[in-house]
Amino acid sequence: MTLASPWRFRLSAAVALAAIAAGSMLVAQSPRRRPPEPAWAHAKYMDKSLSPDERAELVLKELTLDEKVDLIHGQGMPGWGKPKPNYYLGNGGAGFVLGIDRLGIPFIQMSDAAYGVRSSAMNGRYSTALPSNLGAAASWDPEAACAYGEVIGSELRAQGYNMTLGGGVNLTREPRNGRTFEYQGEDPVLAGTLVGNRIKCEQAQHVIGDIKHFAINDQESGRNEVDSVISNRAMQESDLLAFHIGIEVGDPQAVMCSYNAINGDYACENKYTLTDVLRNEWHFKGFVLSDWGGTHSTIKASAAGLDQEQPQENFYGDSFKKAVQDGKIPMSELDEHVRRVLRAEFAAGLVDDPLHKSVVDVFGDLAKARKIEDGSIVLLKNTNNLLPLDKNSVQSIAVIGDHADYGMISGGGSAQVDPPGAPNPKWLEHVWFPTSPLKSIEARAPSAKVAFASGKDLDAAAELAKKSDVAIVFVQQWESEGMDLPNLTLPDEQDKIVEAVAKANPKTIIVVESGTAVTMPWVDSVGAIAEAWYAGSAGSDAVADILFGDVNPSAKLPITFPKSIDDLPHPTIAQPPPHSQGPSPVMRMEDAKPTFAVHYDEGVEIGYKWYDAENKPVLFPFGFGLSYTTYSYSDLKVSEGKEPRVTFKVTNTGSRAGVEIAEVYAGLPAAAQEPPKRLVGFTRVALAPGESKEVSVSVPRQYLEIFDEGANAFKLTPGSYTFMVGGSSQELPLKQEVSLN
Ligand code: BGC
Repeated sequence: MTLASPWRFRLSAAVALAAIAAGSMLVAQSPRRRPPEPAWAHAKYMDKSLSPDERAELVLKELTLDEKVDLIHGQGMPGWGKPKPNYYLGNGGAGFVLGIDRLGIPFIQMSDAAYGVRSSAMNGRYSTALPSNLGAAASWDPEAACAYGEVIGSELRAQGYNMTLGGGVNLTREPRNGRTFEYQGEDPVLAGTLVGNRIKCEQAQHVIGDIKHFAINDQESGRNEVDSVISNRAMQESDLLAFHIGIEVGDPQAVMCSYNAINGDYACENKYTLTDVLRNEWHFKGFVLSDWGGTHSTIKASAAGLDQEQPQENFYGDSFKKAVQDGKIPMSELDEHVRRVLRAEFAAGLVDDPLHKSVVDVFGDLAKARKIEDGSIVLLKNTNNLLPLDKNSVQSIAVIGDHADYGMISGGGSAQVDPPGAPNPKWLEHVWFPTSPLKSIEARAPSAKVAFASGKDLDAAAELAKKSDVAIVFVQQWESEGMDLPNLTLPDEQDKIVEAVAKANPKTIIVVESGTAVTMPWVDSVGAIAEAWYAGSAGSDAVADILFGDVNPSAKLPITFPKSIDDLPHPTIAQPPPHSQGPSPVMRMEDAKPTFAVHYDEGVEIGYKWYDAENKPVLFPFGFGLSYTTYSYSDLKVSEGKEPRVTFKVTNTGSRAGVEIAEVYAGLPAAAQEPPKRLVGFTRVALAPGESKEVSVSVPRQYLEIFDEGANAFKLTPGSYTFMVGGSSQELPLKQEVSLN
């Protein structure tokens, strides 16, 4: 480990101050001098016309062994074990990697940034909370995903970071997974496309983009000791496919391997996923970093393809150096790790565009957060067009729900964004953002009487609902990294509040703030339901946009809402044995081994594929969402080329302009032995009332193929394919069979 000498930094600060003072005295007499150019300014690797590979190679040749080793591990994280000697050089984020000062290679300053930049208030700064990742996935909108990435990328840079740790894309195999809100839903094509677009635009801000947690990290229970057992075929067609699409679309320069094991080997020392698939099949050129404390070895991890240990150097510091010196790890292997880290720095623009802290565009980013949430709220039920509310005719509104006067809830764990004025919330603390539903509703209906009840007193809530024209109940389900939900029932007996209010007033509207699916025993007794997810900093204005019809809802569910947890592939979540090593990964890095397994026998049957295959009715299906207008589908044509083109017409049959998300599914030939259908494409169609548009979706060949384990490759099963088109996975009015081979 190289100690970045503290005196040098202090001295240079003192010299700088003296220079400023002297400069201000001289300012009238002499022109300002530029600082002398560092020697590396004219180094060959600073030539921007060279490729990132060429530039990385040139730098690599200059490095000493110690400098190489510095690039393959972190320097600690605030609060993680004993502070490391260089910790003060970090920017307060989850980790950082030393730069090579003498060569002009910058530090990599990393921050968690799932739905906004984490821990910003610790630096005296502010971050925008966007809607949760799952919420934003309900927009099915690659452009919104790009805007999402831009906001996060620019806010990271403004706060002094040049690498994001966002980009979660684990599929919703287990909807009780406490991190479901950080991911993009249950379908690999939808999730991969959206995360890829987010990363592409995030990285365009000159931060290293990251995709995580690679792979099959699909439950939090025992996450550091669980072995995810799954066939290669199922893995390739589901979770890995989401990653592959995300990497193809977004070209992230980093992949974070996950805590769990996969088929016996920890994900951060798993040769199959890291080398055979990621490097050799997908030709990924960036670097792999471990999840925090997810490295378990030196020689094995290095050979398997782990490039960088985070957040410390238990295996990739002195022990790595010694292994190289002793000839146990070839220098060429170390060089390959270093080359990948350097290449990422050049490819993402870190070297050519050094960090300068600046001010976040607070209002601009709030407007973007609101627009994304406008497109993410899913209207699930709307009996007799109860919504939108007419602000001119509604006389009285009851707003009911815990904190509904104050704010909206957010997701916890390392994804947690600081709400303004409340730095660094404690781990597992429930955090409400000060975006007040009550105030937004009052502002939208200034002539109505708007009254609030928390719902803690059931009778008072029912009484208020009874004497109001409509009742709007805000219900919440909180989630966080490090835990799974015991079930999908609303906590704190909120079902009782809904039931009491709905009994008092049939014009009851439920706004759900959730990180995943919730069960709704009251579904038949309420008038309307809107799923607002974790709505972000501008959430309550977006909810009011939908409630009062300023925005016509267009979002559709990126996950299935089951009727009951008994219908899930795993009615109970596999748990670690009682001798479990505890919740903190720090305690179990050395000598860790998986202590229990979860057998993903349902394989590729995740979400709707499972319910379809099992013929189980659901509460709300994948891809479902209502609008204030209606649409019809007609004129399906499917071309039979290598990449079939699916063409059809969508018509707005109602009286409001809207955007319809049109979904294309394919049923494979029986010989493929696949679930009844899979999503193979989608598009968003904006339509004025009465307008029709013909649209086309081309279907990449791989989306129709299955993974052939014998050939270790995706292959098309020759035969008849049924293409189905419509507005939800369970409403597909257009069908056409096409023979493909
Ligand atoms: C999480 C990662 C996160 C890292 C750094 C880990 O516990 O699993 O997603 O990026 O911590 O905070």
